[in-house]
This record gives sequence, structure tokens and C-alpha cells, in this order.
Amino acid sequence: MKVAIMGYGTIGSGVAEVLRTNKEQIELKVSEPIELKYVLDLRESISPEDNDKLVHDFKVIEEDPEVGLVVETMGGIHPAYEFVKAALEKGKHVVTSNKALVDAMGSKLIAIAKEHHCNFYFEASVGGGIPVIRTIYHNYAGEKIVEITGILNGTTNYILTEMREKGASFEDTLREAQKLGYAERDPSADIDGFDTSRKTAILLSMSSGCRCRHEDIFTEGIRNVSSMDFQYAREMGMTIKLLGSVQAREDKYFAYVAPIMIGKTDPLFAVDGVFNGIRIVGNCLGSTMLYGRGAGKLPTASAVVSDMIAAVRHQHEFQGIGWSEKMLTIEPMGNNSFSYFVRVEGTPEGIKKELKENFLKHSGKLVPIALGGRNDEFGFVTDEMFEKDFIEGVRVFEEKTGRRVFHYIRTEGELSD
Ligand code: HSE
Repeated sequence: MKVAIMGYGTIGSGVAEVLRTNKEQIELKVSEPIELKYVLDLRESISPEDNDKLVHDFKVIEEDPEVGLVVETMGGIHPAYEFVKAALEKGKHVVTSNKALVDAMGSKLIAIAKEHHCNFYFEASVGGGIPVIRTIYHNYAGEKIVEITGILNGTTNYILTEMREKGASFEDTLREAQKLGYAERDPSADIDGFDTSRKTAILLSMSSGCRCRHEDIFTEGIRNVSSMDFQYAREMGMTIKLLGSVQAREDKYFAYVAPIMIGKTDPLFAVDGVFNGIRIVGNCLGSTMLYGRGAGKLPTASAVVSDMIAAVRHQHEFQGIGWSEKMLTIEPMGNNSFSYFVRVEGTPEGIKKELKENFLKHSGKLVPIALGGRNDEFGFVTDEMFEKDFIEGVRVFEEKTGRRVFHYIRTEGELSD
């Protein structure tokens, strides 16, 4: 099958490299060779290996009947959407690594692919080299997915791991990550959680079968996580991870992106540095975990190439991934429930009653956590409660006691020693 790559940046050039490096392995697995015919790019010259395939006009690809498969690694929504749509309408299969495109237009593009008897694949849009998309629609096709929770962003996981290990501040660690090239010069998409939110939206669509908007997912990034929070986490045998989570309960869908304190028994506890980890829970399957490199040239290109192989294998049929155009309603964040780790001004003396009334209604048990004899603040963990009740509890507590809640972090799982 003749192929065109649109966008010869890090991922696009990586795809060409994987095709060259693993040529023999790939040929063993498909009924016909995958041959790169065009590379669409704005530059006048791209690389000695692929300069002869360089074109500047998408029409060349669109109008060449020999091209059966188009790889979109341009990024952004426009003109990627228009090019992908036009390719699908010509019956050409499309593989993309572009999460913004999949998040914004995925259901529409799948519908167009279905109408034109071709396929739209996007394995590389979530978790880089980790095969999470195919695992859901292929391996777990017979499961009702009840939860997917993951560390989906390598940059923030690197920053949080460094903060935990070195006791450094968020600002210093971010600067260091930028110096080393792990974090972008404008780091907002990563550290404010939007990259994780887009990936979470794709996973929510995969698990619910419906369309959803990442803008509708509650998203909190890691800017406010401090070295002090990590000191408390360490005291409690926990760590802090930026998680994207989707959950199905009684036909309702919940989703959030937030820094979460997790204990050592959670398999995501050990996912450190730039690695991603994704826990999938099925109603019959139980819990499974995927782990690997969620970003980077060759891991992401590897996922693109696996989709290209799928496109060749399924070139005469539309492969349903179970994702319709029906819009999903996500439950408000206030209806989620957590136990909360809370840092309060001063010592517990004189405010125990207010703490119990607002945060410990069920257990009535306050276990203050102090850091090295500090008496300007202390921490504690609430009972499990609805987010809306917790937020109201913070308001009432601050009003009644005149004490400030410095920070809170949602927790999952049990505290460990
Ligand atoms: N900036 C992303 C990350 C790249 O750090 O994981 C992959 O989407």
C-alpha cells in the first residue's frame, strides 16, 4: 500500500524511521508492503532519505489514487481536519497522532470513515507507545469499562517525581525540566492539565461509546502542588500524581483531571519520571494496567506504525471502534467523592469541633499530621465525602474559625505506613 505522511516533524520523521528500521518485521505481518510515496511539509528540504518524496500541495496526495493510507502528524486542528476529512472522503485510510484533532473531531471523522468504507485510527493520540486505544476497542471489546485512570502526561509526571525525590519547589523543577528539554518553553498545556484533559476525553469516549468535550471535564493542573505537600505525602506513605480518570457508575459518567494523593498499593504509585501508566477496570475483567513511554519520537511513531499495519490488514472493511456521535453528559465534579488531604493554619487545639463537624462527620476521628514540630500548620485526611460537601465544608470552617485552609489534595486509596 502506498502511503503519505503529512507533517515531517518529530513524529512524522519518526514514522518514516520506524518504517525503515523495522521494514522486515512489518513485511512479515501484512499482505502487501507499506511504501512511503509522499511527505507533505512546508520546508524546501527535510532529510536525505525522504527529500525525493517531498510535496507541498495536499492535492497531490488527495488526487493520487495509488495512495491508500495517509498519516497525519501535523498537529493542530486546522488544516489537519480539512486534509483528513478530504482523504477519508476519497476512501483513503487515515492514521493520526493528533489528540487535539481526535478530541475535537473524532466522532465526525469516524462517521465519515464509516460512510466511505475506510478507517480512522488514532492509537498514538493517548499514551504514546502504550497500546491503550486498541486494547479498549479490540481486546476489551466485550467488556463494560467501569474505570480508566492514568498518568497520561510525561512532563508533569517527571516534574512531580523530581519534586518528590529532591524536595525541590515546583518552580525550580519546572525550570530545570525546561532546561533539559522535557518541558516546553510555554508549559501551560502540560502543567495546567489540558494535555491530560484531552487524552482523558478520548478515553471517556472510548469507554462510553459517546462523544464528549474535554472542556466539560473538571481540570486542575499541578501549579499549586508544593514541596510541603510532598513532605506530608511522605509522612503518610503516599505520593502525588496528576491523574486523568473516567468512571461509569449506574449509567452515569464521571471524569476529572487533578493531582491526587495515592498510596503504595496503587500500581500507579511506582510510575515515575516521563513514563505513563494506565489502569483499566472492566466489569468482568477486573483491573489491568498498561505502562510505558507516553511520549517521544520513536515510541509515538511505533504506535502510528501499528495503526498503519491495522489499516493494511483491514483495508476492505470499516473497523468499528464503538464510538458514536451521541453527546455524553458528564456528571458535575461536585458529585464525585474523595477523601481529602487538608492543610490548615495553626494547631488543632480549639478547632477540633469544627474540623469534625465539617470534615469528619462519619468517623468523628481526627488524626492530625504534623511536620517536624511546625506549629504554624498541620494536616489531616477527611472522611470520604462529595466534592460539593467538602467545598462547602471549607467555606463554613474558614468562616467559623477564622483559620485558613492552605491547600487540599484529593486522595485515592489507603494511607500506608
Ligand atoms: N507533552 C506530552 C507529555 C506529550 O508530556 O506527555 C505527549 O502527548
